[in-house]
Amino acid sequence: MNDVRKEIYIVGAGGFGKEVADTIVAMNREEERFLIAGYIDDDPALMGKTINGVTIVGNTEHLIRIGRRALENARPLPSAILSVSEPAIKRRLAERLEGSVIPENIIHPSAVLSPYAVLGKGIVIQASVYVAPNAEIGDHVHVNVLSSVGHDVRLGAFASVMVLSALSGYATLGRCGYIATGVTVLPGVHIGENTHVGAGTVVTKDIPADVVAYGAPCRVIREKNH
Ligand SMILES: CC(C)(COP(=O)(O)OP(=O)(O)OC[C@H]1O[C@@H](n2cnc3c(N)ncnc32)[C@H](O)[C@@H]1OP(=O)(O)O)[C@@H](O)C(=O)NCCC(=O)NCCS
Repeated sequence: MNDVRKEIYIVGAGGFGKEVADTIVAMNREEERFLIAGYIDDDPALMGKTINGVTIVGNTEHLIRIGRRALENARPLPSAILSVSEPAIKRRLAERLEGSVIPENIIHPSAVLSPYAVLGKGIVIQASVYVAPNAEIGDHVHVNVLSSVGHDVRLGAFASVMVLSALSGYATLGRCGYIATGVTVLPGVHIGENTHVGAGTVVTKDIPADVVAYGAPCRVIREKNH
């Protein structure tokens, strides 16, 4: 019988990569969908190492070559998931890998997603996340464990939401926005592109683009260095 599982590469072998690998294993317990082909990482010191049974098989260039060979031989492109939580790095990786891989959606079976939520591609939704009706999750967005994305919330492409955060109805997080652990965003509040909201923050009013902001209530602390 043919193996119907898709080979998937996990791009980024850090802590978040390990969590993504676990999430794929949990998905496979429900339905055998993916065969983890290995980690991809640009740190030469990691090459050939194995983390929790998954080997770092090459760097980004290696994955691009696999994609190129697949195209030359009229085979399907390899599947991949970006597993880096810093949005700017995620965006750069996605741009480099565009056209060389198929971005898959990795969604833990314990996550509850409204059928009226709109999902982009290459997203990671971890364990016990709730995504409410009419929420929009952009391409390559990550939502970490135990977080809640309220109704009509919009998360821009490459945004990351860390553990135990809650975005209330109609709130928005701009492209490449980052919400650290334990953040509450009040209803309808807009957080600008590239902005980084620190841990434990309560965001009560709109926050501009390109800043670091934290505290309860949230204050802009400084401009963000890209
Ligand atoms: C935004 C962040 C990166 C810190 O930014 P920073 O400006 O570099 O902060 P520093 O560590 O230089 O600290 C500067 C000051 O702000 C305070 N501070 C830092 N982060 C704070 C926060 N989230 N809330 C309140 N105060 C904070 C520090 O205590 C320090 O105060 P002091 O000058 O009185 O000693 C940090 O708050 C944060 O959220 N990190 C992400 C953690 C996280 O959730 N990771 C995800 C893992 S899954």
